[in-house]
Amino acid sequence: MSLTGPHDVSPSVPAPKTTANTLLLKKRSGHLIAALTAYDFSTARLIDEAGIDVILVGDSLGMAVLGYENTLPVTMEEMLHHARAVGRAARSAFLIADMPYGSYHSSLNEATSNAIRFIKEAGMAAVKIEGGSNRAALVEHLTLAEVPVVGHIGLTPQSLHRMGGYKVQGKSAPSMEALTSDAIALQAAGAVALVLEGIPRELAARITAELSIPTIGIGAGPDCDGQILVFHDLFNLTFSTAAKFVRRYADAARMFHDGISRYREDVLTRSFPSDAESYHLPGKTPGVVDNSESPVLSKA
Ligand code: KIV
Repeated sequence: MSLTGPHDVSPSVPAPKTTANTLLLKKRSGHLIAALTAYDFSTARLIDEAGIDVILVGDSLGMAVLGYENTLPVTMEEMLHHARAVGRAARSAFLIADMPYGSYHSSLNEATSNAIRFIKEAGMAAVKIEGGSNRAALVEHLTLAEVPVVGHIGLTPQSLHRMGGYKVQGKSAPSMEALTSDAIALQAAGAVALVLEGIPRELAARITAELSIPTIGIGAGPDCDGQILVFHDLFNLTFSTAAKFVRRYADAARMFHDGISRYREDVLTRSFPSDAESYHLPGKTPGVVDNSESPVLSKA
């Protein structure tokens, strides 16, 4: 990284800002929505420049970058720290931050204060909360407080203990009915979009057809209005076996291992840094090392 070089490598004509309305129009016109998670400035900038519509600062950052076992320990302060970095990078993408476990469970007022922090302090355009009909009152409350809300139903990782593990949801008829009612309740409460996670393709298709707001699927098949994946899953950066629904686009772990090993080798064999990678005193010839005239260097 150049400490003095410009950060700004974006094209001169910025892409228009993606809003909740853009996503709605995409659904209506049959244009699909591409979404990815990001947790830091450089990744968010790359994703934004690639034209991805939605960036989610997911609480999956707990595992992906903080090394937690699941999303449950993630705090508001951790979420805000990463959301601010993403907020500084993205120009065009619609930015959503996950409300972490515990930040919206105690009271409507506390949930509202926490949600507003993502908008005020991190430049997010919406928050995402997990849960169905049981969250409808909260979605309504946040919407009235000018906080756009994205719902998240199906396999909701913050319900890990209640679900008894990360299990595909909505496989039985009653569970399909319950999830469909949840989706309808969240839409009626004002949600601007829904994430459908870990549900059968057929159920995702049914919910998508039923709703006027866009659905964004992860492990929910191809019939949603859009798709989201965790950035680290795409590039083999999770140190774990990928789920069935993950498609890997490159092996960044291998690329980083290789680069790090070559750097180590170069340092240990003095092949890095070279003379060309070094600064020189004025008047000195690059490539010729002569310390005798330098009072500072000759002391060493
Ligand atoms: O936290 C996250 O990354 C998410 C996505 C998997 C939807 O909630």
